[in-house]
Amino acid sequence: MNKVKVAVNGYGVIGKRVADAVHLQDDMELSGVCDVITDWRIKMAGLKKYFVFASDETFRNNMNKGRINTSGTLNDLLASSDIIVDCTPKKIAAQNIELYKKLGKKFILQGGEKHETTGHSFSAENNYETALGRNATRVVSCNTTSIVRTLTALKKANLLSKARGTLLRRATDPWESHLGGIMNTLVPEQEIPSHQGPDVQSIDPGIDVITSAVKVPITLSHLHYWNVQLTRKAGKEEVMEAFHHSKRIAMINYEDGLPSNNTIKELMLSLNRPNGDMYEVALWEDILKVVNDELFYAYVVDNQAIVIPETIDAIRALTAIEKNAERSMQKTNESLGIRQRFY
Ligand SMILES: NC(=O)c1ccc[n+]([C@@H]2O[C@H](COP(=O)([O-])OP(=O)(O)OC[C@H]3O[C@@H](n4cnc5c(N)ncnc54)[C@H](O)[C@@H]3O)[C@@H](O)[C@H]2O)c1
Repeated sequence: MNKVKVAVNGYGVIGKRVADAVHLQDDMELSGVCDVITDWRIKMAGLKKYFVFASDETFRNNMNKGRINTSGTLNDLLASSDIIVDCTPKKIAAQNIELYKKLGKKFILQGGEKHETTGHSFSAENNYETALGRNATRVVSCNTTSIVRTLTALKKANLLSKARGTLLRRATDPWESHLGGIMNTLVPEQEIPSHQGPDVQSIDPGIDVITSAVKVPITLSHLHYWNVQLTRKAGKEEVMEAFHHSKRIAMINYEDGLPSNNTIKELMLSLNRPNGDMYEVALWEDILKVVNDELFYAYVVDNQAIVIPETIDAIRALTAIEKNAERSMQKTNESLGIRQRFY
């Protein structure tokens, strides 16, 4: 079987993880990564023996001056690729769409871009099939991905009536916390719903969901609290069984030394996950409570990692190298070591 040639444009927090994950797949080949930077971050790509491309000739000259071995510009990378995963910052990716379209290349954008940029938003366990063979999709943001995963599991078990969630959002990513972020304060978003609720509906308009969000002075991950109106009275076991149907939700226990996001991060490091990444939604089994027909739960989202498996599945869906969602997800899960219990 011919491997799909995948380009990654933007080798930052998400791009470098997508590149590593593509590199692990036996049905994909990383054709190269493209960026505009000249510091240690892009030098890591060279160290991994990935082909490095510069956005244009000016950036290529800068990279060459910085003794970074380049294989060409973005146009060269695109010419040797079947599909592009654009992981450049919010709003920059949208500007690249015309070029991808002109060259007739399939492309995937990330959650910083609007649904309208591709006309399709992706979350593997919910709507893999609708992305099959399309030219483009957008993998929704980290928070939205976690919401779609959890609520889809409840919906598939006919338990979901409506869901209301409060998101505690990390202020900035760890690597750039010297540059900005908030300290000693909590900053609620002025608008309810926060954008994540409507974003969920860009994937599944049938989900009744409203979100509120608070920016908190941490970098590691997000934490969500959810109140769900169930369709009927249910027991905890039934709800747990529903969540179990998602292979990308992992149950954790507060009582097992995991009462916080930093302990969860340490667990990921102990599991030798690359960068301490957690692709799963880590949901507290011993916090989860059902009161008659109401469900309450909390979970942690590793914002830097959760969209990586989704992006790999989106590549398979757009290129149609795997038409079956379950088979794609199983392949992705195995390659990244995704599991429902961490130990
Ligand atoms: N960081 C997260 O937690 C997170 C989570 C989910 C989704 N996302 C989304 O992923 C996308 C990328 O975010 P990120 O956090 O990885 O950003 P980032 O800033 O860490 O990385 C972006 C990379 O793109 C490079 N770049 C900038 N302009 C470029 C250009 N013209 N051509 C090529 N490369 C260019 C930058 O140098 C940088 O290396 C955004 O849409 C974001 O909303 C981010």
